[in-house]
Amino acid sequence: MDKKLEKALQEQIKNELYSAYLYLSMASYADTSNLPGFGHWFKVQAKEEHAHAMKFYVYLIDRGVRVLLQAIPEPDAEFASCLDLFEGALTHEKKVTAMIEKLCLLADEAKDYATLAFLQWFITEQIEEEKNANAILEDLKKLKAGPSAGLMMLDRELAKREG
Ligand code: FEO
Repeated sequence: MDKKLEKALQEQIKNELYSAYLYLSMASYADTSNLPGFGHWFKVQAKEEHAHAMKFYVYLIDRGVRVLLQAIPEPDAEFASCLDLFEGALTHEKKVTAMIEKLCLLADEAKDYATLAFLQWFITEQIEEEKNANAILEDLKKLKAGPSAGLMMLDRELAKREG
């Protein structure tokens, strides 16, 4: 495998684990703010990010690459509100989308068509990731001026997510 591409794929394992760490940090804020539904949603999200990291891990191993794990940076821990959490989540997902696009560019430059095919799943997944965060963010914006009963209803809704 092209060395530049290999390095970037190794780094993406760390980036996905950082995503898991960030969402777990957000879950902790929600769980200690008496909003267990939000906490549940972010814990499921953290689990998904771990699964994303594992997809990169398995792919590299399948290609005969020794995976070398990198240090995961400390995630933010200060959040002002649930609105703040989802603004942060959407901003973060946009960054991840840009990372995946960069990986595609590197794979294309290296004419590594197997990696391009592998990355296609992530291209599609990122549409979903941004859409989900944005939908909840928009609901929260609508609720901002409304009564707290609305927030409680949304919390119950988020608690239903499977995972
Ligand atoms: Fe692994 Fe939320 O993207």
